[in-house]
Amino acid sequence: MAKIIDGKMISQQIKDELKEKVERLKKQGKAGALAVIQVGEDPASSVYVRNKKNACAYIGIESLAYELPGETTEEDLLRLIEELNGKEQVRGILVQLPLPGHICEDKVIQAISPEKDVDGFHPQSVGAMTIGEPGFLSCTPAGIIQLLKRSDVEIAGKHCVIIGRSNIVGKPMALLMLRENATVTITHSKTRNLPELCRQADILIVAMGKPQFVGAEYIKEGAVVIDVGIHRDENNKLCGDVKYAEVEPIASAITPVPGGVGPMTIAMLMNNCVQSIEEG
Ligand code: GUN
Repeated sequence: MAKIIDGKMISQQIKDELKEKVERLKKQGKAGALAVIQVGEDPASSVYVRNKKNACAYIGIESLAYELPGETTEEDLLRLIEELNGKEQVRGILVQLPLPGHICEDKVIQAISPEKDVDGFHPQSVGAMTIGEPGFLSCTPAGIIQLLKRSDVEIAGKHCVIIGRSNIVGKPMALLMLRENATVTITHSKTRNLPELCRQADILIVAMGKPQFVGAEYIKEGAVVIDVGIHRDENNKLCGDVKYAEVEPIASAITPVPGGVGPMTIAMLMNNCVQSIEEG
């Protein structure tokens, strides 16, 4: 029986710690707002944006919502970001991804001032993380590090295998695990002998974006399994990239979906916002 790594509980702990910190900062006269920009009406994005605004309200940070129509031009979006970059009260700027096809995401990410890049997506944030300089960490990988640490999973010296090489999860995850002194293998869709490689993992992080793909044949007895995927199955129930029922009996610890990695992303976004207010 695996230990269930409870992301809901751990994210709640983090948000409660942040709420106290925000109160202390307010007494020192330090406050600020998070600007949340959504372009268009993608239903999944609307849910994420609402959760982010609710988290801000919970910890006591003001959120400024910019809900722009899907036809918004790249130029108009860049102009809004420029305006928000210049507002002292705005300590964080978040543009919900994905953006409509006519807007270049890289251009938009690079327009956000690195001091306000609470998603940690700007090349300057990524570069700083790579060499261990101060800066905002990508929220999902930073959340996974917190899940492991707060569940007493030792990372140093362990072999961590990551499935997925996205800029948002796989690549920054590898860098953060390396920073924690893990031995890291990154795998992807062209990797050969994937199950065999994964069976060497002490910690397996699955961020491939394929519903219920990873089964028992990928898991070493006693491995820690972190599932970053979130999908709806044929019965419209939430599920991850991992076949939970099949993997749980082999693993020593596992994150559920929902209630594992998901809530941690928002908790770490709040952490970055508080860091920005503290530094501002
Ligand atoms: N879309 C999916 N995940 C994220 C995230 O962490 N930040 C932003 N801005 N957009 C996303």
